[in-house]
Amino acid sequence: MNTQENITWNNNTPSSTQFEDVYYSTTDGLAETQNVFILGNQLPQRWQQQKTFVIGETGFGTGLNFVATLAQWEKSAPQHAQLNYISVEKYPLSKRDIKKALNHWSELDRYVDELLQVYPSDVAGFHRLKLLKDRVSLTLMIGDAKQMYRQLIATVDAWYLDGFAPSRNPGMWSVELCKEIARLSQPGTTFSTYTAAGQVRRNLHHAGFNVSKVAGHGKRERLCGSFNQTPNLISQAPWFHPPNLPASNRKKAIIIGGGIAGISMAHTLSQSEWQTIILEQEDRVAAQASGNKAGIVMPKLTLDMDKYAQFHLSAFFYTVSWLRNLQSRQPSLDWHPDGVLELVDKQRGTQLAKLKLSKQVMQALDAEQASLYAGLTLEKNALFFPTAGWLAPANLCTTLLKDNPEIHVALNQKVSSLQQDADNTWHVSTQTKSYTADVVVICNGPSADQFQQTKHLPITPSRGQISDLKQTASAPTLLRPICYGGYVIPLSKNELLCGASYTSDDKTVALKKEDHDHNIKALRQHLPDLLTEQPQAHEGRAATRATTIDRLPLIGPVANESFYRIAYQDIKHGKRPHTFPLAQYHSGLYIASGFGSRGLTTAAIAAELVTNLINNKPLTLNTTLYHAIHPARFLIRTLRKQ
Ligand SMILES: Cc1cc2nc3c(=O)[nH]c(=O)nc-3n(C[C@H](O)[C@H](O)[C@H](O)COP(=O)(O)OP(=O)(O)OC[C@H]3O[C@@H](n4cnc5c(N)ncnc54)[C@H](O)[C@@H]3O)c2cc1C
Ligand SMILES: C[S@@+](CC[C@H](N)C(=O)[O-])C[C@H]1O[C@@H](n2cnc3c(N)ncnc32)[C@H](O)[C@@H]1O
Repeated sequence: MNTQENITWNNNTPSSTQFEDVYYSTTDGLAETQNVFILGNQLPQRWQQQKTFVIGETGFGTGLNFVATLAQWEKSAPQHAQLNYISVEKYPLSKRDIKKALNHWSELDRYVDELLQVYPSDVAGFHRLKLLKDRVSLTLMIGDAKQMYRQLIATVDAWYLDGFAPSRNPGMWSVELCKEIARLSQPGTTFSTYTAAGQVRRNLHHAGFNVSKVAGHGKRERLCGSFNQTPNLISQAPWFHPPNLPASNRKKAIIIGGGIAGISMAHTLSQSEWQTIILEQEDRVAAQASGNKAGIVMPKLTLDMDKYAQFHLSAFFYTVSWLRNLQSRQPSLDWHPDGVLELVDKQRGTQLAKLKLSKQVMQALDAEQASLYAGLTLEKNALFFPTAGWLAPANLCTTLLKDNPEIHVALNQKVSSLQQDADNTWHVSTQTKSYTADVVVICNGPSADQFQQTKHLPITPSRGQISDLKQTASAPTLLRPICYGGYVIPLSKNELLCGASYTSDDKTVALKKEDHDHNIKALRQHLPDLLTEQPQAHEGRAATRATTIDRLPLIGPVANESFYRIAYQDIKHGKRPHTFPLAQYHSGLYIASGFGSRGLTTAAIAAELVTNLINNKPLTLNTTLYHAIHPARFLIRTLRKQ
């Protein structure tokens, strides 16, 4: 994290003491941004021709280039245009410093406010942020430019190369970074930069760019140019290579399943002008796992911050920001981001504190502090996640539909089969009708493996039950949810929801006394002071989760199983990855399932990722995490072992 000591201020204009350079021109930073980066890439003209546009930047710094681009884009881009802006920052500025640095230009105030509202914590990795009513996606990668861009899957239309001076900040202009920039470019991709340094010119030229020297802002010269080579499709994991969906004018998508996964999917897809229809077998939405009275949205950390923890942290950040945006438009959203406590033993608490996550993300509390946050005496230490919270899943589903009335929902439509004809149109059959679409997204929870195309996916149903408990007047008032393996949520002053039992390979949904007993026993064991009497739980709800063996969901394109079995049969012999062909999928068929016990935290990022894949837009997750949740991973694991 950039600290105050790394920045010096001269008339509210910041400089880096580490790199001994200014963040933007001291004479007129905004004019330089406009001339060098925006006009230097001919953006206003190009935005007229390209409805969705991708900008990549090296060095987010104060965000001046970003907010200036937003202002220009709003002025000149067509009404339904969408902008993807990708940037990287190894030493993120604090919100306070950004505000101070961008205070010179009142015409940017509105955009600065939008940026500050979504500006993320300094946790390393990708942060996908939405601005200007979700028309703009900002992917802010916190970390080293070379490492972060290496993990990006995207095709960029224009680059802003804006590291500090090449002599002082060579890492931002290195051969390796220029190669990554080239990998993410296509013929016609442009770049522009303020420098004319010879080393930069040579590195970009070797990476495949035509480079010209032109008059710069003020007296200096600067470089600009365009990519002039065919993209290099060599992949280190060709079996996970993203599909290339042929552009279709019809843009019609069918979503199978009206739970949180399906409804988030329809909501996100329809924002990029897809006409969406949800086919739901029941007579209402949120009728199965997504129909509980309440559930918790929080990250799940591990000591080594493995892929599981990284994915859940990314999903958590995305979902919290997504819910905040939704609640600002739809105040009836039943979302309570007042923080969640997780009881931990002392050793685990101390170890997790060493992750040094910012206080906005997690605080390690001793039992006394934790008791104050809980509203009752706790015997254990706890982790406090201040931006986590609880929501009512069915209310989230109906709020999303209300937020976008164009989503069509067809109830009592149980899908039985999927077929694709020669012109790639999908035919989706229910007991009474056949629907057609260009794209189908399978979001039907534990039944997602019911189709001929998905039967190879290892999804296990797992039963879960929650219990509704009434609190007596003398019992303490629980202030926020507490997790302890199970969890308890204060629905109101005298009503608690606790859960959740877990029985693998069980699809039954009738309430069971032994599951209530299990939930209450766990609650009494961990929070003995919460219940003053032995509660009688008669109410509750049971449903089926869709789980996978590695506890990560299945999100992405559906593999063509027979192609995989032939094309990758030699994978076990250790042949080099790039010698294998690129993956083949059922064109236009995607899945988002296997959310296990965490779908409320992960369904939104799944919707974003699948929408990115369908629209060929920058992926919201880095390559490692995209591979970790890729639906073909189990096929590949099997082929490696055979
Ligand atoms: C007891 C319990 C407690 C939980 N607590 C939490 C929590 O605190 N936090 C959290 O993040 N997660 C929690 N979860 C998990 C979370 O509820 C799920 O991960 C999430 O609801 C899954 O959403 P989904 O849309 O994938 O599945 P579902 O909500 O099950 O939706 C699938 C939909 O598909 C429909 N469908 C199925 N087959 C067909 C077909 N052939 N044709 C048409 N429609 C079909 C179904 O009717 C259903 O409506 C809990 C789950 C349970 C069971
Ligand atoms: C000239 S400033 C960028 C200014 C920025 N575009 C703006 O609009 O304010 C260069 C930025 O690159 C960042 N940086 C330097 N080395 C980096 C690296 N190796 N990886 C990522 N960011 C780096 C610096 O912290 C600094 O914020």
